[in-house]
Amino acid sequence: MKKILFLFFSVFTITCFGQSKSLNLMPWPQKITLETGEFIVKPDFTIGVNNSNSERIDLATTNFLRRLSGRTGVFIDNGFAFSASEVENPSLEIAYQRIGKLAVNEDESYVLKVSNSKISIEATTDIGAIHALETLLQLLNNNDSSYYFPAVSIQDFPRFTWRGLMIDVARHFQPVEVLKRNLDAMSAVKMNVFHWHLTDDQGFRIESKTHPKLHQLGSDGLYYTQNQIKEVVKYASDRGIRVVPEVDVPGHATAILTAYPEIASKDTVYTIERFSGIFDPTLNPINPKTYEILGDLFGEMATLFPDQYVHIGGDENEGKHWDENEEIQAFMKQHGLETNHDLQTYFNIKLEEILAKNGKSLMGWEEIMTDKMPTSALIHSWKGVNEGVELGSSLIAAAKKGYYTILSNGFYIDLMQPVSEHYLVDPLPNTNNLTAEEKARILGGEATMWSELVTPLNIDSRLWPRTAAIAERFWSDASVNDVENMYKRLAYVNFRLEELGITQIRNRDVILRNITNNQPTESLEVLTKVCEPVKIYSRNAGGTEYKTFSPFTLFADACTVDAADSFTFKKAVNNFLTEQNASNTEAITHFFDTWIVNYEAFKNLKKNPILNTIDPLYRNLASISTAFKNAFQNENLSKEQLQKIGGLLQVLKEPVVDVDLAVYHDLQKLHAFLVDKNSRKITPKSKKIKQ
Ligand code: ACM
Repeated sequence: MKKILFLFFSVFTITCFGQSKSLNLMPWPQKITLETGEFIVKPDFTIGVNNSNSERIDLATTNFLRRLSGRTGVFIDNGFAFSASEVENPSLEIAYQRIGKLAVNEDESYVLKVSNSKISIEATTDIGAIHALETLLQLLNNNDSSYYFPAVSIQDFPRFTWRGLMIDVARHFQPVEVLKRNLDAMSAVKMNVFHWHLTDDQGFRIESKTHPKLHQLGSDGLYYTQNQIKEVVKYASDRGIRVVPEVDVPGHATAILTAYPEIASKDTVYTIERFSGIFDPTLNPINPKTYEILGDLFGEMATLFPDQYVHIGGDENEGKHWDENEEIQAFMKQHGLETNHDLQTYFNIKLEEILAKNGKSLMGWEEIMTDKMPTSALIHSWKGVNEGVELGSSLIAAAKKGYYTILSNGFYIDLMQPVSEHYLVDPLPNTNNLTAEEKARILGGEATMWSELVTPLNIDSRLWPRTAAIAERFWSDASVNDVENMYKRLAYVNFRLEELGITQIRNRDVILRNITNNQPTESLEVLTKVCEPVKIYSRNAGGTEYKTFSPFTLFADACTVDAADSFTFKKAVNNFLTEQNASNTEAITHFFDTWIVNYEAFKNLKKNPILNTIDPLYRNLASISTAFKNAFQNENLSKEQLQKIGGLLQVLKEPVVDVDLAVYHDLQKLHAFLVDKNSRKITPKSKKIKQ
């Protein structure tokens, strides 16, 4: 009997998932049942809240109403929520039990129900309720006569408690407005930790009242005042987002040492670093003044950042200046510290004591995990195959050793990889051999936006929409892993992020106008749709080494990962290779014509040095398009024609102006098909079928 019941429920759930798959929710809820009917949005839409003590709810409901009326054009009569006693039978009723704490393992669950006549949200905390409001907005749909919320029942909660985004504001400073709009976007996809990488070789971005030289000499004037920090922390808190600050020490410390060379391990002159990479300047761990300055700084930070955790970095310290310093070497001998790792652990433990005095817990990149490091520290796993280790190996090791831990390897969005690669990385794959207790120590993960190559102009297009898919990995059940469906929903989420001021779509045109000097940008826009910025930190490989003040306003900055037309072209090529009928041939020819025609338009632009750098790429794309078109029209291809295509492919394979041609592999497939056809003089499959 039990078995029969189980079967019945399985079929029922699968059927519902099938229907609900058409919804554009991201992250996908834990449990969703589509029902019949819809709640139509009308001017009399009202919100009633059972409790009136949450600023978060006040703000979230007001923003909800603005966004709803902005999307629908409905002139909603009441622009603010009512308390439940003030409104009879509200359209949307919100009930929560208490104010949520911004802390690990807080309850963020909610239940959302939509029927023809009523919408209700129930949650333990106000944080759960604001997540529900985001889900509700994602449910909004329309037909030709109205906007409506489909009838649905959702029970939702996060899979992981730590769903973070790290933004590096040291390599390139990001003003408060950039952070705020990205906090809004994080909240829209239910992310709850903003890891603020505030210091590095290229800048120290915190106003310090105890040691003002830190920001005065270490930031080029680009730092956050303490009031601004409080403003960002409050903005995040209003959206249910914790803020974890990072001061990266003892390496990555050139900016600190520019201000206080007396705490360096090497007696030399320090200036703020302008390049990207790993550098030698390192704090002196045996100098009491080091701890005095850091102690004062962490004391100040404790008053600015309410979160339990402070991130002390700790990554990529090669200890070269420690090796060169005789006093440090003598100290190590005297204290039985055999390796630089031991010395760094000595340093880390001192920092942990300082933080504990300020009521804070320490976290750091995985290098801090050494035999002597207490398990009270949280380990941030980041290394992977590029660093010669298995993905997430430190994460598993940390959980086994008793540390809380989070994963960033696999979520390095600055590597400019397709979102599908990040999406399928699971912080807790079921292939691991962890006990339940060990699994519980894996708190989640963080996407990392290192900012060597991003400025306020292009950062949003590097962050979004890919971060939304990572947010889903952190929130949704592990079984939610259909890549095609993710891409479909992501396109919708991407467009809706614009409502929050995210510039990932619009700034492409801003950059193209800059490049063309305000001439028509359409021809270049077409090219951006098949070009992607070069991946895995190879932007410097072209011979130009970018400095922090180099231009990030160029063609590569207008291009994004997952170039839009590369998907449609891939599909067209695959269809054609399966069957060479007229419509499949026409679909490909359409792309070739587009590239040929737009190159002609590009040629008509008044040239300038930037456009000249793009010309060879466009010219070669147009040439290969013409060559392919001729090849398709010609039953008996000559060897020369095929060689011409092959030659152009060789050229197009190489990155130009810091972009890869995203359709290269599909062009290559077409070429291989033609070569094969020519050598065997095969009869096209469609003709075979007809015979
Ligand atoms: C890191 O990527 N160096 C943490």
